Amino acid sequence: MTLASAPGKVILFGEHAVVSGIPALGSAVDLRARVMVEDLPGGLEIETNLPLKGFSLDLLAGRLSSKEALYATRYVSAVLEELGATGLHIKVESDIPPGAGLGSSAAIVVAALAALSSHLGLGLSRVEIAALAHRIEKSVQKGLGSPMDTALATFGGYLQVSSCVRELDLPPLALVVGHTEIPHDTRHEIDKVQSLRARHPDLVEPIFGAIGLIAERAVYLIKELKLAELGELMNINHGLLEALGVGTKELSELVYAARGVGGALGAKLTGAGGGGCIIALPGPAGGPTLEIALRQAGARVFHARTGSEGVRLGA
Ligand code: PMV
Repeated sequence: MTLASAPGKVILFGEHAVVSGIPALGSAVDLRARVMVEDLPGGLEIETNLPLKGFSLDLLAGRLSSKEALYATRYVSAVLEELGATGLHIKVESDIPPGAGLGSSAAIVVAALAALSSHLGLGLSRVEIAALAHRIEKSVQKGLGSPMDTALATFGGYLQVSSCVRELDLPPLALVVGHTEIPHDTRHEIDKVQSLRARHPDLVEPIFGAIGLIAERAVYLIKELKLAELGELMNINHGLLEALGVGTKELSELVYAARGVGGALGAKLTGAGGGGCIIALPGPAGGPTLEIALRQAGARVFHARTGSEGVRLGA
């Protein structure tokens, strides 16, 4: 049996502007997807622990399937196809909620590539895994998509991503993630922002420019652990994402709960918007206060430490 795991991610600053070539800042977090590979001569099975939520029963085929399970198997099937692999039993387990903008699909693809590469003796390097994973994720999602998620799942740590990927050596942060539990459609949100940009380039370009400045300034603030100022930048970035039209009432309710009763130093939506998650930086009252505030506002809460290790063999 061969086991590999890869981390989920948060985009700290720069979502959407990155689609137009402006560097964004993201980090791997300590929520992981694990993929186990075993030989199954003459067969091919994919098993997942993802919760049976929104399941359906195919009466003709006598099969029970869930949206989450189908989601995981779609990505693993694409990896198997790419490598021409068969005769295997694959098991997928993940702490990362799917469709939340936390890099669940990238972590599954990267962990599957690493586990299969080791099991089949393919000797794929990290650079090869990152490139293959980006291609596979894009083909399954039929989308634009920066290499942010697949690069973070592979290399871990902090990355500055535009057309190229730069590794940054920065200290970890303890963030609190609030999930609205509303799935988001990254492709739809990207199209919305790009169409706004096409209609009002003179307004949208300066917003992208300001987001780019924030993503750049944040690198220094994280390095120096100037957390109050970092929180301020999160708040400004959230406002700019609102201006681009990717905020929702539910996301803003979590942002305001985090900054208010939760005592956060700053909070913003993370990822494409339209649903998914917010990230908040705990203030002096600490993570537990923030967690209670977010739960009371209706969120599912995760604690996420940034700068986590990338793909590895083992759990
Ligand atoms: O929703 P997510 O986490 O996949 O984030 C998408 C972020 C965008 O900047 C909108 C697109 C991208 O590929 O970077």
